Amino acid sequence: MTVDDKRKIAVVGVGAVGSATAYAVMISGLVSELVLVDINRERAEGEAMDLAHGASFIKPIRIYAGEYKDCRDADIVIFCAGANQKPGETRLDLVQRNFAVLKDVLENLMPLKDDGILLMVSNPVDILTYAALRLTRLPPAQVIGSGTVLDSSRFRYLLSQYCQVEPRNIHAYVVGEHGDTEVPLWSLANIAGMPVQEFCCWRGVPCLDPEEISRRVREAAYEVIARKGATYYAIGLAVKRICESILRDENSILTVSGLVDGEYGISGVCLSLPSIVNRTGRARVLAVPLAAREEEALHHSARTLQSIIAQLDL
Ligand code: 2OP
Repeated sequence: MTVDDKRKIAVVGVGAVGSATAYAVMISGLVSELVLVDINRERAEGEAMDLAHGASFIKPIRIYAGEYKDCRDADIVIFCAGANQKPGETRLDLVQRNFAVLKDVLENLMPLKDDGILLMVSNPVDILTYAALRLTRLPPAQVIGSGTVLDSSRFRYLLSQYCQVEPRNIHAYVVGEHGDTEVPLWSLANIAGMPVQEFCCWRGVPCLDPEEISRRVREAAYEVIARKGATYYAIGLAVKRICESILRDENSILTVSGLVDGEYGISGVCLSLPSIVNRTGRARVLAVPLAAREEEALHHSARTLQSIIAQLDL
């Protein structure tokens, strides 16, 4: 194994989301070292043991329960610590509890290595990404959140079911808050370069109802939480996908959350926009053309997040 192959990811917080993320990263073959950290040390040890017992089935990897100091040389630190939504709760309802957790963890976690990436997953992810950026003072490219990468996948999945096309052949993005104000971009959604409605006609399926599909995208997490108490597999795969684009220096376009610095006249907030993701983190934001109603909804999303940020002691 050459030095270049030696890649390390740390997962801080190994509850349902953190452990599903660790599993997705482990079987991806992306890294040679995976350290798990949790306030409950026994929990971290148990998750590390359970994953490590499968090591003979996958590429060589060292998986172990560690301390915050063991995260500092990681290429990517994935932050999954804190509470998750319970039935009836919104992601924004978690802000004070998880902001307190973030401050406590960062006091023990920092400093990261110079080119280390802090990948926020805990909710409300856009708010916590902004808080982590302010508290760590790292370059904006290196403090990103999973944002609406999962929501864009949900959008593509629902379109794929309706249009009877494999999801990876559908280009469709959700932008803004990873939450109730998120904005599915219908004006850009396309299949083989054809606008979705045009494709439906060509495919011979009835024209779809954008409002119904947008509602199902926004409410997807609530539907899962109502049935099984939490979501974790799809977010784990979304986070693994982001790590893949970083560690393989892919320049893939993903709707990660990050600092918005003037795009669409928005600033002082983190939210999701299509972005080039590579070894440096979120390398560039694509200010894609938006329909007027979409840009208006994006501004509403930004204002919603900014109003919550204003309540934080940053
Ligand atoms: C999700 O969207 C709850 O943010 C989590 O699945």
